[in-house]
Amino acid sequence: MSEYILEMKDICKSFPGVKALDHVSLQLIPGHVHSLMGENGAGKSTLMKCLFGIYKKDSGSVIYNGEEVTIEDPFDALQKGIAMVHQELMPIQDRSIAENIYCGRYPVKKVGPIEVIDHKKMNSDAQALLDDLGLPFKATDKLGTLSASQMQLCEIAKAVSADAKIIILDEPTSSLTLKEVDKLFEIIHRLTSKGCGVIYISHKMDEILQISDEVTIMRDGQYIGTWPAKDLTIDFIIAKEVGRELKDLYPPKVNTPGETIFEVKDFTSPLDRSFTNCSFSVRKGEIFGVAGLVGAQRTELMEAIYGLRSHSSGTVTFDGKELSIKCPEDAIKNGIALITEERRRTGIFGVLSISDNVAVASLNDYLKFKCMLDHKSIKQVVDKSIKELSIKTPSSKELIRNLSGGNQQKVIISRWLAKEPDVLIMDEPTRGIDVGAKYEIYSIIGKLAKEGKTIIVISSEMPELIGICDRIMVMCEGKITGTVDGPTATQEKIMELSTKFMS
Ligand SMILES: Nc1ncnc2c1ncn2[C@@H]1O[C@H](COP(=O)(O)OP(=O)(O)OP(=O)(O)O)[C@@H](O)[C@H]1O
Ligand SMILES: [Mg+2]
Repeated sequence: MSEYILEMKDICKSFPGVKALDHVSLQLIPGHVHSLMGENGAGKSTLMKCLFGIYKKDSGSVIYNGEEVTIEDPFDALQKGIAMVHQELMPIQDRSIAENIYCGRYPVKKVGPIEVIDHKKMNSDAQALLDDLGLPFKATDKLGTLSASQMQLCEIAKAVSADAKIIILDEPTSSLTLKEVDKLFEIIHRLTSKGCGVIYISHKMDEILQISDEVTIMRDGQYIGTWPAKDLTIDFIIAKEVGRELKDLYPPKVNTPGETIFEVKDFTSPLDRSFTNCSFSVRKGEIFGVAGLVGAQRTELMEAIYGLRSHSSGTVTFDGKELSIKCPEDAIKNGIALITEERRRTGIFGVLSISDNVAVASLNDYLKFKCMLDHKSIKQVVDKSIKELSIKTPSSKELIRNLSGGNQQKVIISRWLAKEPDVLIMDEPTRGIDVGAKYEIYSIIGKLAKEGKTIIVISSEMPELIGICDRIMVMCEGKITGTVDGPTATQEKIMELSTKFMS
């Protein structure tokens, strides 16, 4: 009997124009966390979808519990004891948490000759599971009432409920708070101590080093190698992922901030426990960071400035002129753009091509004879974005939903860069994005600032803010608690301001 619970050998998978997997292998030891790393589009999710029966592999073999198996579809995978938390969650928001957890495998009871769903059992089982995992949710609540991170935790509970031998977690922490990540790691430890094998995908290096036993790195659909996590350093992982040394994580500073140009005064939300009396000003050509913990109301404040949410008082001025922004269209007309935090949910038109997704925010700029789209100039802009952000795709005509998660994000970023706004607000711009592409995004931010654009970056990654910003404003519980100089800021100082009102 082999020491592995799972061996994937020489797996190949092609899509039209892309060899997504080229003889990739993976071996999982029971009770271990095996991380899968690689740049956006390296093939990580595709390999896992082949294991979970979403895609059919072209060739190669899967040996599970010592036997070669064919996994027909996700239902078959679940029955065999393989569960997966997907990178792109698709929860049913209008249904209860319990219904989401047991979707497709509801407990049933007999009423006379017919079988019906046993709601009572489903709800109590789901509640017992949530309680057992220490998740403070009510099983009968609608899933849609939860935040993105809470939904992600429910999805993890769902995988746990399948009582699987192998659990695949594809970027499970992309929207989790630090506390929730601790919770997840606790759940993972419980699973591994029972002998469950976990395959873990993430771009967050520190997480990987903390949680993994082994790490496999892929590049361009190929298997690069597997190492024990304890022997690895971040530099080594980056070099293997990117295929070359990446000396600095942040590009040199190129912008010089000028006069104050964008001012927000006394912004207050009509809702309780939201942002209150927020005033700040940003200079022309400045990269202005916004730090804070989840719940600090950073996104809410920026969305209100952009006209996506209402505000009860406050003004926005650009270049001395007070702006009247009642909806995003007003903001866009005034040269303000917002790249939203949850790009997959609020940014992507899945059934449209990359090209259409980039052009959609600036169609008026591509008009020929005032009524026809100038496809040639759209193509030029899109091809430039594909090159600048290294978007991995066979062509600009590819549907965006066929791209890897990180590459979809890059397309959305391109959409707003193509619009060339005067003020660009970016909410977590590098979430889910690999190290190489992060560097490219930082370079583009620097270049835009150098051209005199005003950039506001919300980020939960403090090193990133310190690495690229001229100044960093910190928020806590809806209030601005201070602004620090970017290059000399420390994580401790930012943390102190982020928790100012917390007991
Ligand atoms: N259904 C599909 N149709 C066409 N191409 C696809 C499809 N699914 C994946 N691909 C392509 O396969 C390659 C690997 O994608 P995959 O999603 O596995 O990357 P990934 O390593 O998970 O990246 P990320 O870190 O961005 O999530 C990409 O080039 C992607 O565009
Ligand atoms: Mg992926």
